[in-house]
Amino acid sequence: MTAITPDTPVASRSSLSPPGPRGPGGAPTLRTARVPEDGMYEGRRTLRRLPEGTQERPYEHIEIAPQGRVIGAEIRGVDLSQPLAPALREELNRALLEWKVLFFRGQAITSQQQRDFAANWGELETNPLLARGSSDEVVRFDKGGSGTPTFENVWHTDVTFRERPALGAVLQLHEVPPVGGDTMWADMAAAYDNLPDTVKARIDGARAVHDFIPGFARFYGPEKLIPMQEQFPPVEHPVVRTHPQTGRKMLFVNTSFTTHIVGMDREESDRLLSYLVRQAHVPEYQVRFHWQAGDIAFWDNRATQHYAVDDYAPHRRVAERVAIEGDRPF
Ligand code: OGA
Ligand code: MN
Repeated sequence: MTAITPDTPVASRSSLSPPGPRGPGGAPTLRTARVPEDGMYEGRRTLRRLPEGTQERPYEHIEIAPQGRVIGAEIRGVDLSQPLAPALREELNRALLEWKVLFFRGQAITSQQQRDFAANWGELETNPLLARGSSDEVVRFDKGGSGTPTFENVWHTDVTFRERPALGAVLQLHEVPPVGGDTMWADMAAAYDNLPDTVKARIDGARAVHDFIPGFARFYGPEKLIPMQEQFPPVEHPVVRTHPQTGRKMLFVNTSFTTHIVGMDREESDRLLSYLVRQAHVPEYQVRFHWQAGDIAFWDNRATQHYAVDDYAPHRRVAERVAIEGDRPF
């Protein structure tokens, strides 16, 4: 085949494109074409960061540096090694609800300080499926070098296979690769807001089953999986959950743990779920954070999904996470 370059004469280029459709008598007619019905994503999106009707209010104790349009803010002027005064805790909680993920640069706190900070939001979670850090409440991710393989590079909400998935999590990076190793978050309220009305009507009141098996089974043998199955039977959650503090509706299905929609035949459920989980991929709903050692992210796990970009092996990336117990989604 002849290579086509910008200098190729038009006459020989035109051999690539067949002549347009012609009606009877050879007159040109308008061509029609279709793409898969759920494949079209373009156009203006509704990008609402705050619940409808909420007014923007200033912050008195912290400085907010927005990192995304609907999600993600760097918080300045806070030292997370220190106990939080109640007014500061309240402002951080408001910032968490309004921005969904908060970033704190250069904290470099101890595991104990990280646990104490997270404990301002509730009981700390233990996670028997992930590698333990300095205590049962600390999960340690040591990846890329000779560490464990990555499996956080899929859009997910943490532990939705629990009856009460985590409220949120606090992650600190201890060792960062020279390039890469970012984390991304997506706002599931924005994802819900932008669903077509026909889809909203289909999922209104629907429930889905969540199970740790698809996300974790391949990493463990039966001796570990069988007791884990007893501890974590499949659970049902609403496909659209309401945020207990903001009242916003949020899409609450994810690739790692949502297996099917209750009462739908398998093929229909697969099609609908694959469309729904894909909404986390829309860049307008996302923020991407580039880490330095000692940085902390604190996300609202009720309102978001996240994705740990796995692009840094053979370099090492070490992180520790503390998660806060959540409510039963409704
Ligand atoms: C997590 C997770 C993200 C990261 O802590 O739940 O998915 O960037 N990690 O390591
Ligand atoms: Mn995660």
